[in-house]
Amino acid sequence: MLPPPARSAMAAALVAPLVLLAAAAAAVAAELPRLEHPPKADGSLTILAVGDWGRRGQFNQSTVATQMGIVGEKMDIDFVISTGDNFYKNGLTGVDDAAFEESFTHIYTASSLQKPWYTVLGNHDYRGDALAQLSPVLGKVDSRWICIKSFVVSSAGMADFFFVDTTPFVLKYWTDPKESKYDWRGVAPRETYIANVLKDLDAALKQSTATWKVVVGHHAIRSVSEHGDTQELVQLLLPILKARGVDLYLNGHDHCLEHISSRDSSIQYLTSGGGSKAWRGVRTPNADRVEFFYDGQGFMSLRLTAAEARLAFHDVAGEVLHTWALAKNARL
Ligand SMILES: *[C@@H]1O[C@H](CO)[C@@H](O)[C@H](O)[C@H]1NC(C)=O
Repeated sequence: MLPPPARSAMAAALVAPLVLLAAAAAAVAAELPRLEHPPKADGSLTILAVGDWGRRGQFNQSTVATQMGIVGEKMDIDFVISTGDNFYKNGLTGVDDAAFEESFTHIYTASSLQKPWYTVLGNHDYRGDALAQLSPVLGKVDSRWICIKSFVVSSAGMADFFFVDTTPFVLKYWTDPKESKYDWRGVAPRETYIANVLKDLDAALKQSTATWKVVVGHHAIRSVSEHGDTQELVQLLLPILKARGVDLYLNGHDHCLEHISSRDSSIQYLTSGGGSKAWRGVRTPNADRVEFFYDGQGFMSLRLTAAEARLAFHDVAGEVLHTWALAKNARL
C-alpha cells in the first residue's frame, strides 16, 4: 500500500491526461508573446539566473545579489532570468506594494544588473495579487521588470527562451490549497489553461529554428531537494520538451542549485532557486543522473554561442561550484 501522498500523486498523474484530452479539444491556439533580445556583436549571449529571492535582503539575498553584480560585470551579461517566487511569502499585495522596491530595486543595485529581468511567476507569487506582477505599471517603477505568464525571448536564431507558467499545472494548489489563497484570475479553469499553454508552447518550439532551445519554468521537472520531481510536468510538459529537442530546462522552486542530466534525451535539468532562504537539508533519489547538487544559496550563469553552451553555479562567496559545457556539434 502506498502512503497517502504517493497515492494521491499517482491518482493525479493518471487522471490529468484524460481531463486534458477533453480540454485540448476546446483549446484555442494562440501565439505566445515574443520579445527580441539579440546577442552581442561577437555572437555570444551571457545570462544570470536566480530564483526564490524576494525577502528584503534577508537570508543572504543581498549577499547573492552582490555576487551576481560581480559575476554579471565580469561576464558583461545581456539579461537576467528570474525563475519565480519573486516576492515572499505571498507575492505582491498590488502594484503599489513597497516589497517590489524593497526586495528587487533596492537589492539588485549593481550596474551590471541594470538589464532586462525576464521573469516568471512562482507559486508564492500566485498567493498575492498575481496580476500586479504582470502589470506594465511595475515597468514604470523599475524598467528592468518584464513579467509575462508564458512568453518567448528570441535571440536572433542563436537561442530561443520559452518561459512557461508552471504553477497552474500543480493540482494540489487547486484541490488542497491549505491556508493559502491562489489568484487564479485569468487562469481558471485549470484544464483549459494547461491545454492552451501546452499547445502554444509546442507550436512555438516546433516553429523555432534556434541553435539553443531553453525552457524556463518555476517548478522543477527533476529535483532531488525538498519538492522533488513535479509529476504534472513529468507527465505533461516533458514529452513535448523531448520531442522538440529542448537543450536546457531551467527552474527554481527548490531552494538550492542543481544540475541533473537526462538518461534518455539530451535535456539538462537546471535548478537555480538559491536566491535567498536555503539549506533545507533534504536530498532524495532521482531517476535521472545527478551531476551536481548544492543545498545552499547562489545563482547560475550561462554563456551561449552558436557553437557552445557553458554554464556555472556560483555560491554566496563567489566560488564557482560546478561548471558544464557542451559543443553543439558534439551531438551530431
Ligand atoms: C549565508 O551563507 C553562508 C555561507 O554559505 C551560510 O553559512 C549561512 O548559513 C547563510 N545564512 C542563511 C541565513 O542561510
